Amino acid sequence: MSILTFDDVMLSFDGVRALDGVSFSVDPGELFAVIGPNGAGKTSIFNVLSGVYRPQRGTVRFDGVSLLGRRPHQIARLGVARTFQNIELFSNLTVLDNLMLGRHHHHPYGVLAAFGWIGKARRSELANRHAVEEIVDFLELAQWRRHPVGLLPYGVQKRVELGRALAAEPKLLLLDEPVAGMNQEETEDMARFILDIRDDLGLPMVMVEHDMGLVMDLADRIMVIDFGRPIRTGTPTEVATDPDVIRAYLGEEHRVES
Ligand SMILES: Nc1ncnc2c1ncn2[C@@H]1O[C@H](COP(=O)(O)OP(=O)(O)O)[C@@H](O)[C@H]1O
Ligand SMILES: [Mg+2]
Repeated sequence: MSILTFDDVMLSFDGVRALDGVSFSVDPGELFAVIGPNGAGKTSIFNVLSGVYRPQRGTVRFDGVSLLGRRPHQIARLGVARTFQNIELFSNLTVLDNLMLGRHHHHPYGVLAAFGWIGKARRSELANRHAVEEIVDFLELAQWRRHPVGLLPYGVQKRVELGRALAAEPKLLLLDEPVAGMNQEETEDMARFILDIRDDLGLPMVMVEHDMGLVMDLADRIMVIDFGRPIRTGTPTEVATDPDVIRAYLGEEHRVES
């Protein structure tokens, strides 16, 4: 039983086919990677998944329900959390506050507190603080917990963003180029945390990456896409030895970066 299925999804913008018949499925606990050259359609897959774009054709099902026609906040509430290719955090707020904001779906007493339900609101607040502290420990963020995020090194900010997504207690995590712009050490740290999320939390993930190297080391299965079309889906070894995949990547040197 897959937790996520994409079936024959087509998405176009004014005649440009961003996704052209994309199908894949993700199993419980699986780390599934999508790779492809710039402009291949990787972010578009996430934007369809999270309700930002509605495809013209195809089906998308998560945890037994269709995601099509649902708005981003509804999909988030169903248990899909994502990180972004470019950091989207509140840079003047602390690490703790950013993580607390990641839990806004878990504030059932926010409004009622104003009407005197202070006891319940307080318990809810404490439960949220406790959950956030666990994430701080898990991602080794303790030394920065009260620092404004904007002042932290880039690699740590990316880790806070990962923490913010985890704070929502998702059933599926979407990582958009989690190591983009990172140096070697930051990349290795992030890779370790991604593996911990899979192995310790058992959380299924879809990871989009431009860089083949990282994905080969981490992913259970990989889908390679180019020009919005899947070229090959399989284990890292199957994908790496596929002639069409090799051709797509060699061709990339001649392409303009976007
Ligand atoms: N909002 C948009 N409007 C028009 N074209 C878009 C939009 N989003 C993506 N595209 C186009 O769809 C294609 C795939 O883009 P994208 O999914 O961002 O690729 P990737 O993340 O693999 O680099 C590109 O040709 C891109 O220009
Ligand atoms: Mg992208």
